[in-house]
Amino acid sequence: MEPIITVKNIGKKYNINHQKGGYITLRDIITNAFKNPFSFLKTKTKNILGIETKEIFWALKDVNFEVMKGEVIGIIGRNGAGKSTLLKILSQITPPTTGEIRINGTVGSLLEVGTGFHPELTGRENIFLNGAILGMKKKDIAKKFDEIVKFADIEKFLDTPVKYYSSGMYVRLAFSVAAHMDTDILIIDEVLAVGDAEFQKKCLGKMEDITQKEGRTILFVSHDIKAIKQLCNKTIQIGNGQIINFGETENVVEKYLSISNDITLEKWENNKNEFNNDYFKPEKFYISKEKNDELSINLEAIIDKIDNSLTVGYALYSEDNTLLYWSYQIDGDNTDIPKLQIGRNIIKSIIPVEILNNGRYTIELIGGIHNKEWLFEPNKGNPTLTIEIDRKFNTSHLWTKKRPGLLAPTINWKNK
Ligand SMILES: Nc1ncnc2c1ncn2[C@@H]1O[C@H](COP(=O)(O)OP(=O)(O)OP(=O)(O)O)[C@@H](O)[C@H]1O
Ligand SMILES: [Mg+2]
Repeated sequence: MEPIITVKNIGKKYNINHQKGGYITLRDIITNAFKNPFSFLKTKTKNILGIETKEIFWALKDVNFEVMKGEVIGIIGRNGAGKSTLLKILSQITPPTTGEIRINGTVGSLLEVGTGFHPELTGRENIFLNGAILGMKKKDIAKKFDEIVKFADIEKFLDTPVKYYSSGMYVRLAFSVAAHMDTDILIIDEVLAVGDAEFQKKCLGKMEDITQKEGRTILFVSHDIKAIKQLCNKTIQIGNGQIINFGETENVVEKYLSISNDITLEKWENNKNEFNNDYFKPEKFYISKEKNDELSINLEAIIDKIDNSLTVGYALYSEDNTLLYWSYQIDGDNTDIPKLQIGRNIIKSIIPVEILNNGRYTIELIGGIHNKEWLFEPNKGNPTLTIEIDRKFNTSHLWTKKRPGLLAPTINWKNK
């Protein structure tokens, strides 16, 4: 049987300096809301090339794979890995610099917010326009129309230009159009993350239907590993523009979550004068590696006014956003609490890696004046860092990679 998609030696070269204002995706904006976009672009380039000001780099290099009809392929990888670039090439929105793709069918795609619909046209008009672009006859689109509108649940706004839609409404309609049109292949970038939880669930259900009942092929990019596991039989892991792994989802995901012994030491710097207050104005928030390989959270801040009820620290979340714990600088024994003074202060504490399972965690700066006011209220857009834990469970040869459960403390047992 011939593959429905063949990708051969695909490469994509970008010329960054010619991109006025820098290239930033919606995702970049969300995940780097606290960084100046220009310095972000620079560090990104630096990460890839090892030098600061180079004009070009390869967002994809030597990418080869095949997809058979009816397969559901997940695509995972860190921010900036090249996932969206690959999807754009497959959707023929942008051409590859090298190599070729062969596609034996029609493609419908749902890419980053802002692509696909015409902003001045209403929802109704866009549905017809999209169908027409995909080569459908007007009467065939009309047949699907009600179903599309119902699934998107936007009846009230059908005759409003989509530029007035909220991002959630936009994605509802865009997903619904892509899912209901008769294309052989459906390509979906992680835009679904914009929708609410209920809608995301509905979309996953719809995608399952599409593959199981209609036998269509899906390529699905997501950072939601649970969704990837639920939906995709095979998964591609991309890293630095190359395929790192392609195979059964279970295997690829497991490796993905346990890679990188070299923990990325993330840093947040307050170069926008944010979170201004007298009690604790954060300047830097970062992870560092100690001499004995322990990992520390560091918090550097300016204090203008001392308040004895100041509590600052961090919240730790697992990959599926479950809160694991809060920790404040006053948690320790009385004698061990760091002293704070007017001016610059740096406090730090060791992350108890020994209780954590392997995987990716988010660390969020939190704090406030106890019982009075939040300075950094959890989940309200505070600075965050991510770390990837990759422990070797050498106490038990039964579990070498990842243990079941959120936590994985290594606890001693004894003979009674
Ligand atoms: N038009 C462009 N011009 C310049 N650089 C670009 C362009 N499009 C993408 N890039 C760069 O190519 C790299 C890959 O980007 P891409 O959007 O494919 O990543 P991604 O894997 O989708 O990441 P995320 O998880 O953040 O969505 C990034 O470093 C990005 O900055
Ligand atoms: Mg992307």
